[in-house]
Amino acid sequence: MIASVLPTYSRAPLTFVKGEGVWLIEADGRRFLDLGAGIAVNALGHAHPALVEALTTQAGKLWHTSNLYHIGPQQELADALVAQTFADTVFFTNSGTEACELAVKMARKHHHDAGHPERSDILTFEGAFHGRSSAGIAAAGSEKMTAGFGPLLPGFVHLPFGDMDALEKAAASSTVAAIMVEPVQGEGGIRPLADADLKAMRALCNKHGILLILDEVQCGVGRTGKLFAHEWAGITPDIMMVAKGIGGGFPLGAVLATENAARAMTAGTHGSTYGGNPLACAVGCKVLEIVGDPAFLADVNRKAGLLRQKLESLVAGNPAVFDSVRGLGLMLGLKCTAPNTEIVQTAYGENLLTVPAADNTVRLLPPLTITDSEIDEAIARLERTAVKVALHV
Ligand SMILES: Cc1ncc(COP(=O)(O)O)c(C=O)c1O
Repeated sequence: MIASVLPTYSRAPLTFVKGEGVWLIEADGRRFLDLGAGIAVNALGHAHPALVEALTTQAGKLWHTSNLYHIGPQQELADALVAQTFADTVFFTNSGTEACELAVKMARKHHHDAGHPERSDILTFEGAFHGRSSAGIAAAGSEKMTAGFGPLLPGFVHLPFGDMDALEKAAASSTVAAIMVEPVQGEGGIRPLADADLKAMRALCNKHGILLILDEVQCGVGRTGKLFAHEWAGITPDIMMVAKGIGGGFPLGAVLATENAARAMTAGTHGSTYGGNPLACAVGCKVLEIVGDPAFLADVNRKAGLLRQKLESLVAGNPAVFDSVRGLGLMLGLKCTAPNTEIVQTAYGENLLTVPAADNTVRLLPPLTITDSEIDEAIARLERTAVKVALHV
């Protein structure tokens, strides 16, 4: 008999009932150190007092009115995002997938209204993940995500990851609307694009009059040590997808865009019942206020350096289990020698939560609020995990 919850997830046998900072408490009382943060969502950890306060204060006032009316917290968050980023305008969604949908629509409508309806192709990359909607899976294009779901949405061209020659050729076609890329691939195994490649992508877009869409759903909102990852490369996109960390655990996503890219999205061309609702935006405003503080980001970078250094020693000392460390800021991946799923499973036994990714990688995406002593504790648990795994390989 099919489970009452559609069985599309393979879940660990754990049920958490409470969270405190980087800690999650299981129903049986065990305390787990959470290096997954709900897959890069709980940027400020669990039950951060300022977020609880923002949410409960708003909950006592107003939950939902719809976008038939102006929404105060939505306006406030849009203004803050415009002030702190490249963007001139913002549309709010409830998830990263919905942000992907709008990014694709916006890019196509931009060219359509500019007199180039033939420009509808979006260039994407092997290993990419942009969500599970029809556009999202067509954008990723992998057999794993698309098998059985055809006919797929047309208009996506898939290129090898990091192959700039292939990209240069593809971008020259007169049917291209945009390049869509994650500055750091998350699900693909924590694979950062080189700054030089991001710069080259920006230059290609300028040269051919096409749009650069950055998917910062996983790598954005302080995760890499900048408010948004593309800042490391010193470039700006035309359109950016954001979700996960911006809501700190409350469902919230956004598409940020320049006026030029967004100009064609006039009244009636897009919408969402819940997108930008008062509860989500009240939390989002508080997250952005905290993470956007340069002192907060400086501390993320300091802690990221500490964690990385300790991970390098862990990897060097356990070559039968780990191969290398990669990533940026507190978005780190352990490329494994042993099977990554075995490491994640074994870590559960050390009350430690990590997240598997493609390319035999284990992701470490701790809350940005993790402390130095919690980093030490995480390393100790990873060491014990490695010793146990090494006994089996
Ligand atoms: C880079 C990236 N884009 C898009 C998505 C889809 O976001 P959501 O699951 O919120 O729909 C994800 C989710 O993991 C992601 O990592």
